[in-house]
Formats: sequence, structure tokens, C-alpha cells
Amino acid sequence: MPIISRRTILKGSAAAAASFAIGGGLAARNGIAAPLRLKAQFTEAALASDGITPKVMTYGTGEAAATGMPPVIRMKKGEPFAARLMNALDEPTTIHWHGLRIVNAMDGVPEMTQPYVYPGDGFDYTFTPPDAGTFWYHPHCNTLTQMGHGLTGVIVVEDPADPVFDAEIVLNLRDWRLGTGGAFIAPFKPRDAARGGTYGTVRTTNWQQQPSYDAPAGGLVRIRMAATDVTRIYSLAAEGAPAVVIALDGNPVDAPYPLDLLDFGPGQRVELIVRMPDQEGTEVKLGNVRGSSPFTIATLRATGASLKRDIREVKPLPANPVAEVDLSTAKRIPLDFTATAEHAPVPSICGTIGYTFWAINKVPWQGDTPDPGAPVSELKLGKSYVLQVRNRTPHAHPIHLHGLSFRILNSNKRTILPPPTDTILLLPDEQAELGLVADNPGDWLLHCHIIEHQKTGMSGYFRIV
Ligand code: C2O
Ligand code: CU
Repeated sequence: MPIISRRTILKGSAAAAASFAIGGGLAARNGIAAPLRLKAQFTEAALASDGITPKVMTYGTGEAAATGMPPVIRMKKGEPFAARLMNALDEPTTIHWHGLRIVNAMDGVPEMTQPYVYPGDGFDYTFTPPDAGTFWYHPHCNTLTQMGHGLTGVIVVEDPADPVFDAEIVLNLRDWRLGTGGAFIAPFKPRDAARGGTYGTVRTTNWQQQPSYDAPAGGLVRIRMAATDVTRIYSLAAEGAPAVVIALDGNPVDAPYPLDLLDFGPGQRVELIVRMPDQEGTEVKLGNVRGSSPFTIATLRATGASLKRDIREVKPLPANPVAEVDLSTAKRIPLDFTATAEHAPVPSICGTIGYTFWAINKVPWQGDTPDPGAPVSELKLGKSYVLQVRNRTPHAHPIHLHGLSFRILNSNKRTILPPPTDTILLLPDEQAELGLVADNPGDWLLHCHIIEHQKTGMSGYFRIV
């Protein structure tokens, strides 16, 4: 159930705490964890209006969610977490914990940070999330298929110092490429992969089309949304109630500000507080207003007597421990994102889709091959860097860096700079400087999160030693 009232939050987190904090607590005391069981498996789901979709992929925990969707995983900032992935698919898989700054060996990139998890096998993930916020998880194998078929779930990392709101709603936004009768169709068209990416045909929120949720009238509702689609960039607007942005991509904004229109791309997250209308039955719409066919992401319906809350009560969330960049010593690293002339497919980590269209610093697939070649750059542990990113294409690219957070220091395309992030939606012709401290050792992928772009060359890695 995606809507959680204040009471059920307490109950829910107590229950969740009981199920894996037994793990967490014991892990802390005895080094033994009772992991959350995540079984990658096939299911079927009611996604389209004209038929049940077979061969959907999901993560099961034992109790099936009503929609079949991968569970929202709740963790606690600074506390050990453990999960056991079991592979009941018919191909290898792994889990990447997108945005969590955890140890390299738990990052879920096959060949690079861990072995493939073959059908019938399992893998134990244990780590401690250092930051609170909204994150997500997905495989890093054959991703256009595995993510396209359903393997994208949301993570909430709670902070005991977080303010409590009247309700919380977690929204997993994604599309599906389905044909008549709800069956999957080809995941992409090469022509689109070489442009903005191939869109899905059915748009869902929590695996439902335009769902509606009850929320307390006059209450402050925390909305956590994650764009887990392989292609779609959203432009978010709220209609029918005031809303403020409190966090982006897993980090709080310095001061909450009114939601006007917010663009976010694959891999990115947005947290809002919506002040529900006082009148029972009144609806609030969260919509995607981008493109030729705007649509409703979700409807919120006010229920009960008004709680009469004031949106000005919303204070900044506690900050995460992201290191300050030392600009006086920071080394500059230019990174150009470009198209590349179409040539033969290169076998990448976890499979190619058969084309090469994109490059970073003129090199497609920098090191992203089963026999990793040179990294895009080698960084020194603990040192500050400024990535001088440049989008030399007419398309937006959500560029994601594993294992680290960076700050957008300046940009020729924006006046408001977001909080530290793991993914920047690099706009067409945007030029920006990203500051980071290389404080997490290992090999960290850097790639576009439009998966067709990632899988046709816009991918590489940093080595931090
Ligand atoms: Cu969402 Cu390489 O990751
Ligand atoms: Cu891209």
C-alpha cells in the first residue's frame, strides 16, 4: 500500500524494523544479519487496459505486493542493511543501489565490482547507507530488458532526525513498451536510440495508470517520487494545492521552495510536501506537463476533517554528510558528451544492444567492457575535482555517477543550483562544472541513464585509488 498514514508509518516502520532490524541489530552486535530476501522473478501484471502482461520481472520478498511491483525498501541512515538477492530469472542479474554511497564491492556492477549472479544463484549485499533520502535499485545486467520489464524499485533511507509529516506517499514512475493485449514489444528502435531514446507505450505510477490516493485533508503530505523509466524525462507540476520541493536526488534543498515546473530525468528523484485542501473530497493532481501528451502522474484526494496545517511550517530537512569541495586545489577534468559515428557493437558489461551511437571524450564505452580498458580518469582518494561537463548534443542526458555525490557549481543553463546529487540532467548544449571529493575508493561507473544511450556508448568509469 503506497499511502501510509502517520499511524501506519509508525506501525509499518516498527514492522519493517522488526523484519530487518533484527538483521541490523544483530549485525551490529554479532556480525550476523537476517537479510531482506529479494527474489528476482517472473510475474504477470495488469499494466495495460487490454490484457495482462506476461513475462514481467519483479523482486519478491515472499509477500506479493498487490500490484506486483518491487517493494519499497526502507533503510536507516547510518545503520547496517542486508539483502539477499536470489535469481529466479533465466539470465544473470545483479542489484545496483542507485545513489547510495556505499562500498565499491556492493555497487552491483558485474565484472567490475562483483561476479554475475546466475539463475539459481544468490548474492548477499550488506552495507550502511550514509545518507537519508529517496534512492532506488535496479539490475546492472542486460538493463534495457531487465529494467524495461519491471526491475526498478524505490528505496527510502530514513533519518531519525527527519520531521514527521501527516502522510507519506512513495511513487515509482515508469513506462512499459507494450503492444496489443499487453504483451511486450521490441524494447527500442535504433533510430530513437540515436536520438532522445525510445519511449514506452504505457505510463504508470506504482504499476498503475493514473492512480489515486487518499490523504488527510489540510495535512502536509510527503511525496517521494523516483523516475525509474529507461527513457522518459518528466516535467512535474502540481494543480489544486500548494507544494514545496524539499529534496532532490537524495539530498535536501537548502530552503524548501514552491514547486513551479520541475524537470527530472531517468534515475532522478524529487521530494515534495503537498498541503492538502481543507475540503474533504477535493483533488490535487500531480502531472507531467512535458511533451505533446501531458498526463496525470497521480491524484491525491483529501479525506477527513481538515488538519489545518500550514505549509510555512515546512523546514529544511537535516543535511547529509557530503564533503566540501576544495576549489583551490581541485583538478579539472573535461568531459564531453557527444554522438559518435555508428559503428560495430562493442561487447559492454552486461551486454550490448548492437549499436554504438554515443561517446564520452570521443571514446564510446570507456572501460565499460568485459575486459575493462582504461578509466575515463583516475582520481586520488580524498582529493577534490571539478568535472567540466559539456553536452555537445541536441538531447538531454541524465548523467549518473556511481558511489559519489557531486555539486553543480555553475552552468550556462541554470540559475538555481540543486543540492548535491548523483545524477545531473544535462540539458542540450549545457556546459557545467561539477565539484566532488573523491572520498570513496573503487571503480565507479559514469553513464547516461537513458539506458539506450548507456548501452550504445555513453558509458565509462572513474577509478579512485
Ligand atoms: Cu542507476 Cu549505473 O545506474
Ligand atoms: Cu543520454
